[in-house]
Amino acid sequence: MAFELMPLPYELDALEPHISARTMDFHYNKHYAGYVKNLNELVANTALAKASLEDIVRSTAEDSRPAQVKIFNNAAQAWNHAFLWSCMTPKPMQLKGSLKKRIEGSFGGLDGFKKSFVSTATQQFGSGYAWLVLADGGLKIRSTSNAKPPFVEDQTVLLACDVWEHAYYLDYQNRRKDFATAFVEHLIDWEFVAERLSQKHEAAA
Ligand code: FE2
Repeated sequence: MAFELMPLPYELDALEPHISARTMDFHYNKHYAGYVKNLNELVANTALAKASLEDIVRSTAEDSRPAQVKIFNNAAQAWNHAFLWSCMTPKPMQLKGSLKKRIEGSFGGLDGFKKSFVSTATQQFGSGYAWLVLADGGLKIRSTSNAKPPFVEDQTVLLACDVWEHAYYLDYQNRRKDFATAFVEHLIDWEFVAERLSQKHEAAA
């Protein structure tokens, strides 16, 4: 069965004024839909057609053959974007409970987290992502280039911010820092992040 688009959990204009409906329309219906379409074409009638998206990403991550790189790029982008849609919400959110304590312990508080996340997102050279991950038992902020998700390095992904220009250029042009700031101030779905963290702990128990 072909890979399908993950339905957007909110309307295209729901993240305005921080991300415009026009940006979301291009991002979801052109870029994300394009990655999923390419992936389906690339894996059709191969053994990978029946694998999970995550398994395809893992199995092609270290393979430098051009055909495999193409599959990796499109599979990783299909995974990253489905994850990204879930990381954002138009609902006002509050950081609370054990996630709040972990953020305070790791970054000196929510403000420290925001500062570090925005700085990482801004300093990522070229296309890529800023992430909050669970690595070696601790919360860490990092970035990756292009399509690579940190789970290929056995880090648990908790939050992603897409810093490819297609994610913000129509709204912010070259001001990536302003986009990243809007992301941390207004768009993070902390309930989703907390759920990812608790799933990991249940899995480890
Ligand atoms: Fe994107």
